[in-house]
Amino acid sequence: MSEILNLADRGGLTEHSYVLSKVRELQRGEEVTLLAQDDPRMLMDAVTLELRNAIFWDIVDAGPPLWRVRIRHRQDVEAVDLVDLLTRDHERIDHLFATALHHTNAGNMAAAMPSFVEYAQRLRDHVEAENEIVVPVLELPRSPKGDDPTSLMIREHDEIVEHTVMIEEMVAEGVDDPGMLAPFFAIISGQLAKHEWREENNLFPHWMQILKHDPSIAQDLFPRVRGLVRFFD
Ligand SMILES: [Fe+2]
Ligand SMILES: [Fe+2]
Repeated sequence: MSEILNLADRGGLTEHSYVLSKVRELQRGEEVTLLAQDDPRMLMDAVTLELRNAIFWDIVDAGPPLWRVRIRHRQDVEAVDLVDLLTRDHERIDHLFATALHHTNAGNMAAAMPSFVEYAQRLRDHVEAENEIVVPVLELPRSPKGDDPTSLMIREHDEIVEHTVMIEEMVAEGVDDPGMLAPFFAIISGQLAKHEWREENNLFPHWMQILKHDPSIAQDLFPRVRGLVRFFD
């Protein structure tokens, strides 16, 4: 399905609200073509950020007179760079964890476990990719007090993994009462959301900046991280 969207027809809406309202519910396999009189790149960056990278856009025709932008669902396009890859992995980890949480809250540990086990594996791979592959290469200033974004990220990784291990150990010891496990699920749920938000807003823009200035680093890092997070197997 393909829809044409003309910015000139947006009525009383701002460009931002108009585009957002039209692409917010974009489904896999759907495509929207946006027509604009002026350079739409800043607008598209803002909308994409607001939708947490759920969409992918590229310029088909650069004006003048008319700009034409193709907008697709992010999952319909292979990850294009490191930050894209990691953001998608956040979504996948969130989704697995949310499924496990949902079943735990419904009192069904048997249904929760497959998603939880997969979440724990994906989490470890993701943390390893960020701590061991990305951080040593994309160096950012660190503060002795440890309150810089990189140190904060590593500390939060330790905490999230620690709470995940607590659940694993309880399950291994035979605790299968969802009522006892639920508080730990709730803690991780809050930690994950905060952590990913901070990373995407405080670290990823810096990483992007470094990668843009030195494409050879990007070419080296991307396949190594992709191999670890195994997105397309
Ligand atoms: Fe991450
Ligand atoms: Fe992280």
